[in-house]
Amino acid sequence: MTPDKAPALRAVDLARHYAVSRGLLGDLRQGPTVVKALDGVSFALQPGRTLAVVGESGCGKSTLARQLTLIEPPTAGALYISGQNAAMADAATVQRLRRRVQMVFQNPYASLNPRKTIAAALNEPLAINTSFDAAERRERVLQMVQRVGLRPEHAQRYPHMFSGGQRQRIAVARAMMLDPAVVVADEPTSALDVSIQAQILNLLMDLQDATGTAYVFISHNLAVVEHVAHDVMVMYFGSAVEQGPKAQVLGAPLHPYTQALLSAVPALRAQDRRQRVPLQGEMPSPLAPPTGCAFHTRCPLAQARCREEVPALRELAGRRVACHVVAG
Ligand SMILES: Nc1ncnc2c1ncn2[C@@H]1O[C@H](COP(=O)(O)OP(=O)(O)O)[C@@H](O)[C@H]1O
Ligand SMILES: [Mg+2]
Repeated sequence: MTPDKAPALRAVDLARHYAVSRGLLGDLRQGPTVVKALDGVSFALQPGRTLAVVGESGCGKSTLARQLTLIEPPTAGALYISGQNAAMADAATVQRLRRRVQMVFQNPYASLNPRKTIAAALNEPLAINTSFDAAERRERVLQMVQRVGLRPEHAQRYPHMFSGGQRQRIAVARAMMLDPAVVVADEPTSALDVSIQAQILNLLMDLQDATGTAYVFISHNLAVVEHVAHDVMVMYFGSAVEQGPKAQVLGAPLHPYTQALLSAVPALRAQDRRQRVPLQGEMPSPLAPPTGCAFHTRCPLAQARCREEVPALRELAGRRVACHVVAG
């Protein structure tokens, strides 16, 4: 990491709101018809580094992934890819930037075309986006097949002929074909057997060492995050509640929500944990957002102020934390 280099990815107050019909959701209560799926997230990610995004189902992780990969335009905020603002860019630039941020999905089978050989699937991005001739492309496809731990003869096979772990290797290969600045991986190992998960994580880490690609790694599994992350962002109800270096956020969590998530993982750094904070209740409905701090309805530390005022992220003990109550 060189400090003068532009971050591979920088988000500034990135937000995505969805207009929803309450009728469709069967919810007849009064309230907003806008779901703030992502409500102002900021971070900078340097080349060769991994930002892990963690939080319960429904907190906005996949919505964030769709903004970072330019699948959807954000409602507000800015997104810089290798220093270039994608939000302000013209269509041709967006097209070019889209190549720089690749995605790996949870279910590798769904993301591979069953009628295409692996060679064809890996050739496609090269044929569309580069001027390599057919022989050069074939060479690169074979190199990548081996780089992700498959054999050359695998290139002529179809997705259904592979195991789940092998398919995820293929998905990783395809994401890496154009040497992206960033790979966004949304729960990439959650559908795999535990014994296979570590192999895929190690593959991703080896590739990062070799290429300097930055990763945004989305996971609800804190043991996995512990293994791969440099920085961690903990999300709750569309916002970051705690973010910073892994050693601070997971090693000495300050936000009661981060502490609660870690409490649920007995094996993880038990010696560092100050107290166990069991997580109670459920995330509020996005159609009836709480006032003040979104976490106050489940928070063991909540005070009157927490019900009234939204806490801003503030610097505290080497990370940023959005809580009125905690002190370093
Ligand atoms: N296209 C959409 N329209 C309306 N609401 C959505 C849409 N996509 C996501 N949401 C809502 O936004 C919130 C965050 O969803 P999501 O990003 O999928 O969370 P996660 O990936 O963390 O489980 C949820 O309340 C979800 O129902
Ligand atoms: Mg998701």
